Amino acid sequence: MQDNNSAPKHPHGHLGAAGFLGMAAGLGLMIYVPSLRAVARVSILYWGFLLVGAVVLLASFYAMAGRGIARHLAHARGPAVATKFDFGWAPGMTIGPWTAALIAVSTAVAVQVAAPTRWPLAFLLVLIAAGFFIGYLIARSASRPDQAVLPLVDWLSGESDFVLDGGCGAGRTTLAVGRVLKQGRIVALDRFDADYIAGGGRTLLEQNLRLAGLTGRVRIEQGDLIHLPFPDQTFDSAVSTHAMDHLGPQKEQGLREMLRILKPGGRFLLVVWVPGWVAFTFVNVLSFFLTTRSGWKRLAVRAGFNVADEGMWNGLLYLVLQRPAPKPS
Ligand SMILES: C[S@@+](CC[C@H](N)C(=O)[O-])C[C@H]1O[C@@H](n2cnc3c(N)ncnc32)[C@H](O)[C@@H]1O
Repeated sequence: MQDNNSAPKHPHGHLGAAGFLGMAAGLGLMIYVPSLRAVARVSILYWGFLLVGAVVLLASFYAMAGRGIARHLAHARGPAVATKFDFGWAPGMTIGPWTAALIAVSTAVAVQVAAPTRWPLAFLLVLIAAGFFIGYLIARSASRPDQAVLPLVDWLSGESDFVLDGGCGAGRTTLAVGRVLKQGRIVALDRFDADYIAGGGRTLLEQNLRLAGLTGRVRIEQGDLIHLPFPDQTFDSAVSTHAMDHLGPQKEQGLREMLRILKPGGRFLLVVWVPGWVAFTFVNVLSFFLTTRSGWKRLAVRAGFNVADEGMWNGLLYLVLQRPAPKPS
């Protein structure tokens, strides 16, 4: 399968590079423009924290690899019987922000005790810690295996719909849709190569579907969101959560593909991260590069959709996009 996805596959790399460059700029400022020492200090501190974040993220990927090896060894001893859903998120997704918050708050206390006149610095550190702590809460709620929720909006045309879940990962959204659709069938599509989901997600998806009793109604398909392997007008409805924002400059192409495979009048529920304080607490400066709400709407309209409904939900944007039906003659 062709891979045109230019989205960052290794967010820790981008965060790390930004951290290094920012700290270097801060050091340069400190040396060459001594009058801006205060600005330089804040810059070094801020970018230094990003660097810590990058290292924690990277460590989490290694921890996940370790978990994969442990799973593999356990499986070699005999097939494990899964008893609860597992979406395969790296433990560092929650441990990372939590650790960073702890470091920031401890430093704030140390600064306040050692140099009370530097209270603005301690205050800044507390603000940074609060940001990381909120990020931790969001990561924790997003990775809970007992809550796979979708915004309460009309996007299915009936309980027997044929639905595509694009970028399904380990099946969080597939399970939620499976609970609503009493008779309908679902195709769960992914490239299954995400390095932040254990094993790329496929084995966990199969396991989760078995646990939910959905194996008979969900077909798993390996494929790319920007070249969907289905004929035109295959599906009644489609959904994609936290996946299309990974498409980099190919987002419009991804939306065109969703339009193509939908039947006329069919709806597509799109859920994505957009810039805002919630995204900031979660991915920090990377959130500035996310496509905005109006940007997504513009792309959707350019791809040929009508926007039937829209809103913010848990800090995420949802759009209900409809393929126009031909006018009755
Ligand atoms: C953050 S996960 C979200 C998974 C799931 N939708 C959820 O909400 O839990 C993003 C998923 O999108 C998939 N993905 C990213 N780009 C893709 C592409 N071009 N084609 C197919 N899947 C893609 C990744 O493999 C990953 O499984």
